[in-house]
Amino acid sequence: MDRRSFLALQSRLFALALVGTQFGGRLIANPRFSTNPYSLGVASGDPAADGFVIWTRLAPDPVKGGGMGTDPVKVRWEVAEDEAMRRVVQSGDAIASPELAHSVHVEVAGLQADRPYWYRFQAGDATSPVGRARTMPALGTMPGKLRFAFASCQDYHFHYTAWQHMAAETDIDLVFHLGDYIYEGGPKQNTPRQHNGPEIYSLDDYRNRLALYKTDEHLQAMHRHCPFLVTWDDHEVDNNYAGAMDQDGTRPETFLKRRALAYQAYYEHMPLRSFCRPVGPDMQLYRRMSYGSLADFFILDTRQYRSNQPCGDKSGKPCDGFFDPRATMLGESQERWLHDGLGRSSGRWNVLAQQVILAGFDTVRSEDGPTFSMDQWSGYYSARNRLTRFLSEAKPSNPVVLTGDVHSNWVSEVPLDFLDERSPSVAAEFVGTSITSGGDGTANTEYRAKVLAKNPWMRHYNGQRGYVSCTVTPERWLAEYRTVEYVSRPGSPIETHARFVVENGSPRITSA
Ligand SMILES: [Fe+2]
Repeated sequence: MDRRSFLALQSRLFALALVGTQFGGRLIANPRFSTNPYSLGVASGDPAADGFVIWTRLAPDPVKGGGMGTDPVKVRWEVAEDEAMRRVVQSGDAIASPELAHSVHVEVAGLQADRPYWYRFQAGDATSPVGRARTMPALGTMPGKLRFAFASCQDYHFHYTAWQHMAAETDIDLVFHLGDYIYEGGPKQNTPRQHNGPEIYSLDDYRNRLALYKTDEHLQAMHRHCPFLVTWDDHEVDNNYAGAMDQDGTRPETFLKRRALAYQAYYEHMPLRSFCRPVGPDMQLYRRMSYGSLADFFILDTRQYRSNQPCGDKSGKPCDGFFDPRATMLGESQERWLHDGLGRSSGRWNVLAQQVILAGFDTVRSEDGPTFSMDQWSGYYSARNRLTRFLSEAKPSNPVVLTGDVHSNWVSEVPLDFLDERSPSVAAEFVGTSITSGGDGTANTEYRAKVLAKNPWMRHYNGQRGYVSCTVTPERWLAEYRTVEYVSRPGSPIETHARFVVENGSPRITSA
């Protein structure tokens, strides 16, 4: 089936799902709310040149099931050319159904390229805050500049000061969230905020946890400000899971049931298009977007299709299975899709937005011989080198890798083979630290000196919290590492502790 008929089928199925909903319960056209149903805010995502997704979820009682009962509810939506919502250019009705926790995902199309729009929702007597979205520049045009940020790992136990500062950078037009949007565990000791219960397993648990995270005012402010392009890592389901395997040796059939519930709740809470809607334990999250001809974004899923970690999920010395060619990080279809897309891309910058470090490096955790992180690409050596070899042979224009997961900042000129010191570089990799995970953090310059000395392709390490903002032009990529001093209490100032530049035509990274 080609993509067009696949999408047609998808939208027919979606329409059927809506009809099913209307017969399944009494449609409430004019609900009355005694408390604000927009407790989780509004969001936009996955922009195209002619539109984007707008999202909200009606949840007057957010961390206790939502408080919406079992009937579907009509929600009016509007998209306008101005922030005051005076010049409405599109509007319609959507149904917030109990099957999707009364979330609403509207795919708006037919808008003008490369401009901001504003949107809001109305359910009965309740009007949502106004959010700002943005369409992408038209295909075939070369925009002069893009400003975006990327972030990951937002353990709710600490303060989201990094989101607060990012929202103050008002010229940011896109945000990549690279995963660990939630954590699945129970409450922690001695932290300023707490999880709403023990480790999560049921659909209600996952919904309530996502809702808890989304009640944060700073995260909501950033979602209101611009579209997000989201992907997940492990904690949206369970720590260090790989495909159908969790870390505790649970039977795959059993773990896949948990994964299905986690994926459903994730879809319900993210501004994703309907083709991402999960079917059982499967969810199509990897996808591609273009910012005119300036950048092509390949948003990857390095969790759902992985084979089990050949050498476990810790940092260590290579085991017998280290070189196993059957190990896969992306799975066969996603790997083929990525190579195809990169091979045909006409984007000036080809951005891989993904989770785990690609560069590969000696973690210097042992005195006798190198150690590697086995949950990252380095633990899937053959799969990793298939990708770096492809980059070096097919030569897509300016590959740049954006990474999360490790709760620390890293900058590398990705070597073709990290076991060979003379290996050429094939891409630039910017790894962004956590928003909060790991607590306050330190620069840790001692470790930086040690790890940079052992890995000649590495340019930077820092263990503080924050995010990375990027300014991309046809000739130059600037990455600014923004860090906060603490997250254990609110209100930390922010600083740009390091800046790096990649010039068009070479993966070399220089300090700016
Ligand atoms: Fe994390």
